[in-house]
Amino acid sequence: MSIKPLVLFMTSEMYPFSKTGGLADVLGALPLTLHRMGVNTAVVTPMYGRFATSGFNLRLLTERCPVGYPWAPITAEIYQADYYGMPVYFVGRGEYFDRRFLYNTHAGDYFDNCERFNFFCRATLEWARRLDWAPAVIHAHDWQSALVPAYLHFWRRTDPYWKDTKTVLTIHNLAFQGRFASRLFFDSGLPAEAWNMNGAEFFGDFNLLKTGIAYADAVTTVSPTYAEEILTPEFGCGLEGLLRRRRGVLRGILNGADYSVWDPRDDKFLPCIYRSGSPEGKLDCKRALLKEMCLPDQLEDKPVLSFIGRFRGQKGVDLLVSIIPRLMEMEIGLIVLGEGKLEHEAKLQELAEEHHDRLCVIVGYSEDLAHRIQAGSDIFLMPSRYEPCGLTQMYALRFGTPPVATAVGGLRDTIVPYPHPQATGFTFAEPDPESFYQTICEAVDLWKNKKAYWRGMVERAMSQDFSWEKSAARYIELYQSLGARV
Ligand code: ADP
Ligand code: GLC
Repeated sequence: MSIKPLVLFMTSEMYPFSKTGGLADVLGALPLTLHRMGVNTAVVTPMYGRFATSGFNLRLLTERCPVGYPWAPITAEIYQADYYGMPVYFVGRGEYFDRRFLYNTHAGDYFDNCERFNFFCRATLEWARRLDWAPAVIHAHDWQSALVPAYLHFWRRTDPYWKDTKTVLTIHNLAFQGRFASRLFFDSGLPAEAWNMNGAEFFGDFNLLKTGIAYADAVTTVSPTYAEEILTPEFGCGLEGLLRRRRGVLRGILNGADYSVWDPRDDKFLPCIYRSGSPEGKLDCKRALLKEMCLPDQLEDKPVLSFIGRFRGQKGVDLLVSIIPRLMEMEIGLIVLGEGKLEHEAKLQELAEEHHDRLCVIVGYSEDLAHRIQAGSDIFLMPSRYEPCGLTQMYALRFGTPPVATAVGGLRDTIVPYPHPQATGFTFAEPDPESFYQTICEAVDLWKNKKAYWRGMVERAMSQDFSWEKSAARYIELYQSLGARV
């Protein structure tokens, strides 16, 4: 019997099991899309305490998978679930993963993140070592999985089991590198030769993402523009030198949008559905959203703006905060959903109290509300300082909510900016409050005074197609270019 070569994905989050951001959405969709295209895929991810597994037939495979990290007697539990026909494996060890949050609390990162995620990497490899056939490709994502390409780089010199396994590392956000004290390198089990400035060492610290970039067979990031940007000091977060050296194996593959989850034609979270060509239902969604947010009905015939995202510098939430007083002088509504830095949460709540009849701020995380805001608002705000890809603007396009966004990274690759004849949204070059404000004014003016033009833009936005199949085909090409017969 011939076994199809396996592509094994490793990720610290996967929708619907765990999520803090777009990484989860990508891992909830890309492996499954490949699976449906005939590639043998599986995903490995940590077994967090708080967890949605119902309906996925979760079962324990082994209680004591040896790991050998951080010391020999420590073992991992391995569970398996069926995700629409594709296996998902969970690496469990309560003391590491059964926590309230995935990586950090408001007080900061968990102190043992290096140990937790190195444990995850080592457990995955030890478990994969016991399979009948080694995976053809291990596709690791972000710093939490980035040590795997490095282990395999060294292990395949001496262990023939790994000799044909290729490694791919995808960078979803270069700003998060997993940087730790050097002594953790010497505990990790990587050979001393990896401790150099072209390897694991970064200004005297152990840098997990850097280690992965140095030793992976291929490195990808999640949009073509970001793949260029990270070669510069402005966006390279100190790794631009290494990335330039590895340019030959680096490429940008644009993320897709999972339209089985994010599409107003069939969205379980919306009060009513709608489609391009007959977007009337969008107005009903707007009415319902205003009611849900306790905003006055009178906003129905005014443009309602929205922002959904982490309250962090990356997302430019401070730019939004700084222009809210001016926005409130216009005849508009504004809905903000997110959480993050306490200073932004507090300031936004203060502004919402002051402008309660036009501004609604929801501090927190709500998957279903995110869908209803995408559907019920008219203009989506995304003033990111940098954006590796960005999924929320792709969702906004599909929901007929033209974005106003900075022209960076994946935002440039997905939005056709006004006044282009095929415009689907608005972009501005520099992430400064004035440019952001002026661009919002332009969008609001069009919404109010050029109704027919606006309808055309909404139509174009809704018919953009960022289906995962196109991106998945690029990953297949990549795996094959490494020699994997997937
Ligand atoms: P990033 O991963 O940088 O946060 P993306 O645009 O790629 O940005 O993905 C963000 C994902 O997280 C989207 O699915 C978005 O709807 C979701 N999201 C972000 N903040 C919230 C929130 N407060 N409540 C619900 N969903 C959120
Ligand atoms: C990161 C990036 C975001 C990207 C997401 C999924 O969180 O910040 O731009 O869309 O990963 O790749």
